[in-house]
Amino acid sequence: MDDSERADSFYARVAAGGKVEADDWMPDPYRAAILKFVEMHANSELMGVLPEREWILRAPTLRRKLALTSKVQDEVGHAQLLYRVAEDLGKPREQMLQDLLDGKTKFHNVFHYPTESWADVGIIAWLVDAAAIVSQQALRDSSYAPYARTMKKICWEESVHIMHGRDVVLTLMNGTDRQRALVQNALDRWWGPLMQMHGPPTDPARDKDLLWRIKSKGNEQLRQEFLSIYVPRIRELGLRIPDPELRYDDGAGRWHYSEPDWDELRSVVTGHGPRSQERLEFRRVNRALTQWVRDAIIGRAAAAA
Ligand SMILES: [Fe+2]
Ligand SMILES: [Fe+2]
Repeated sequence: MDDSERADSFYARVAAGGKVEADDWMPDPYRAAILKFVEMHANSELMGVLPEREWILRAPTLRRKLALTSKVQDEVGHAQLLYRVAEDLGKPREQMLQDLLDGKTKFHNVFHYPTESWADVGIIAWLVDAAAIVSQQALRDSSYAPYARTMKKICWEESVHIMHGRDVVLTLMNGTDRQRALVQNALDRWWGPLMQMHGPPTDPARDKDLLWRIKSKGNEQLRQEFLSIYVPRIRELGLRIPDPELRYDDGAGRWHYSEPDWDELRSVVTGHGPRSQERLEFRRVNRALTQWVRDAIIGRAAAAA
């Protein structure tokens, strides 16, 4: 079999639900696509802790501080697991961190925005993690088996994050008018980025990540699922969703909503969001300050090898 026949049979196998392991032969375009996908996911877990980290010292009670600290620790752990999956595809971890800091690779739009009150901590853990888990649950069926297995573990932890977020929101909603207003204000600011988060609809016939079953559901399908599950839950708490166009269309069997601002999404994920550069700079400073640890551990391991 020549390489193109081998690639054809590989793509036919993954399209039919076949699984790929790290040491299996795979065509270069598949390797590049899965690496790009997992690397962006790992970057997002790593950068995603920064908005929440800002609130650890300002948590209102010790119990909340403990819960938020362990969520942040979980997310860093997710980054660690995902960088391992990506490393096995051939890109060294140091290179991935360098590319992230140089703005050559991306992280999810929602982590480029500021947090303005404690209510943001609740909305992020409840709804940002909910939007993420809708896509992460679908990734448990990924054709790349090491990624699918890792997502099973991550999804367990994400479901606890959602309960923590809902509990923060519920407590505020049962508090004073001012506390309820803080939650509504947070929802008003986060709704736009949440609706952009899964990305614009793609043509399933041309979306390689779908054709190769790197992911099993398209962007629009994920957004529709998020809306079906969470719109009733948001309204149940007495919150108002800031989109006058939002309604379920029974005839079409889908949610109708105002077109998300795709220009904003493109600008934000390419490093022009309100906190993009500040958060990357925080990571740069932190990386420089901890360089001696890597030199001591990795340097010694390399010398011993
Ligand atoms: Fe996570
Ligand atoms: Fe999470």
